[in-house]
Amino acid sequence: MKALPPCVFLLLALASAQDLPPFTEDCRTGTYPPNGPTFLGKVPWFTINLDLPPQERWSQVIGSKKQELFTLLQAIKDLANAFVPSGKLVKFVDEDLPLLVATLPYPFGEEMKGIADVSGIPLGEIALYNIFYEVFTVCTSIVAEDKTGKLLHARNLDFGIFLGWDITNSSWTISELLKPVAVNLDFQRNNKSIFFSTNFAGYVGMITGIRPGIFTLTMNERYSLDGGFVGILEWIIGKRDDIWMSFLTRSVLENSTSYGDAKNQLVKTKLLAPAYFILGGNQSGEGCVITRARASCLDVWELDIKQGRWYVLETNYDRWKAPLFIDDRRTPAMKCMNRTTQENISLKTMYDVLTTKPVLNKLTTYTALMSVSDGTLEAYLRNCPNPCMPW
Ligand SMILES: *[C@@H]1O[C@H](CO)[C@@H](O)[C@H](O)[C@H]1NC(C)=O
Ligand SMILES: *[C@@H]1O[C@H](CO)[C@@H](O)[C@H](O)[C@H]1NC(C)=O
Ligand SMILES: *[C@@H]1O[C@H](CO)[C@@H](O)[C@H](O)[C@H]1NC(C)=O
Ligand SMILES: *[C@@H]1O[C@H](CO)[C@@H](O)[C@H](O)[C@H]1NC(C)=O
Ligand SMILES: *[C@@H]1O[C@H](CO)[C@@H](O)[C@H](O)[C@H]1NC(C)=O
Repeated sequence: MKALPPCVFLLLALASAQDLPPFTEDCRTGTYPPNGPTFLGKVPWFTINLDLPPQERWSQVIGSKKQELFTLLQAIKDLANAFVPSGKLVKFVDEDLPLLVATLPYPFGEEMKGIADVSGIPLGEIALYNIFYEVFTVCTSIVAEDKTGKLLHARNLDFGIFLGWDITNSSWTISELLKPVAVNLDFQRNNKSIFFSTNFAGYVGMITGIRPGIFTLTMNERYSLDGGFVGILEWIIGKRDDIWMSFLTRSVLENSTSYGDAKNQLVKTKLLAPAYFILGGNQSGEGCVITRARASCLDVWELDIKQGRWYVLETNYDRWKAPLFIDDRRTPAMKCMNRTTQENISLKTMYDVLTTKPVLNKLTTYTALMSVSDGTLEAYLRNCPNPCMPW
């Protein structure tokens, strides 16, 4: 039920003494424009042409990130083999997952086939890679409104928990290998940008995105007993009336033309995995955290400027429950938001909040900053120098 299974405590014990928690630090200031040891570079841009057939859309991205993607998938396979040494898991992936791809809704299966063709990586492994994000994402997302009514949306993407702690380097193997495949995508129709997303090459769902002028959307993992593994198993055995979470976010970014419509779909669609959706609109008061169980919506927590709620913030715990004590990124993030005040909130000061440990941690892959009215998405690759929390 709780977010972190017991193996984490083991991992903690394995981490070197200097890596022991809590490593909270005072709220950072002046970290933007990104610089210094917490900043590894800007995420590069690519264009995805939605007018092309799905199989051809990803050719340019994959062509340019092929080697990095290959290295990442090899590391995932090595982990899978270490986990289930018989090789059965990898056999399942190579032989059975390709069949699963054929059952995915248009255009996702077709896009995955195209990615497999261009990269030369077996289709089953591309499918596994796409399933991964339904399960291992932990993050911090914030929607805030400034004094002029302008909406700002920022997030840290923390990915790769449990996926291979590298004792020598105090880092997560998969998190490190993800950084080189991070891409910003400009999805176009008729040569016009429809939406932008910060993503990972080879992944066809969406975790972070903006429809310029209309809304911004991020997704955070939500852990529950009736979680993503159950949903994926159900899909494999043939119960297929639920939607993959990250396919829903993609379809909302691609098709919704208002905050209200996006919210309605995120609240009502039955999902394969539980999730938090963090949605920002384009006018005062339009911002919310949607807490989803697979079949129902548990809570919609909205901005309420009159009541003094000028931001909503979500990590990976239901807001009415305390975070797990060894994984409290919520309190430090809120402390820094409160200290910044609504007068001084901006993408710049939100970057400061997301640079403060342990909001910034060893899993943090990128920080994305979005302004709906300016139609902008900026994303930066991150590093968390020691001492730093493993998550
Ligand atoms: C760990 O760090 C060493 C030295 O910086 C580097 O050569 C090595 O590739 C790193 N290992 C991983 C798994 O990143
Ligand atoms: C997009 O622009 C290119 C050149 O800029 C042009 O060749 C192509 O026909 C345009 N496509 C559409 C769908 O307008
Ligand atoms: C806000 O979004 C609505 C659609 O929900 C759109 O009609 C309106 O033009 C947008 N406002 C601005 C200021 O862009
Ligand atoms: C931040 O401010 C809100 C609203 O005043 C308050 O409910 C919350 O407890 C504060 N959190 C922290 C960590 O300071
Ligand atoms: C807001 O920013 C201004 C200018 O940087 C600074 O002087 C002021 O103290 C800040 N206010 C708060 C509450 O931090």
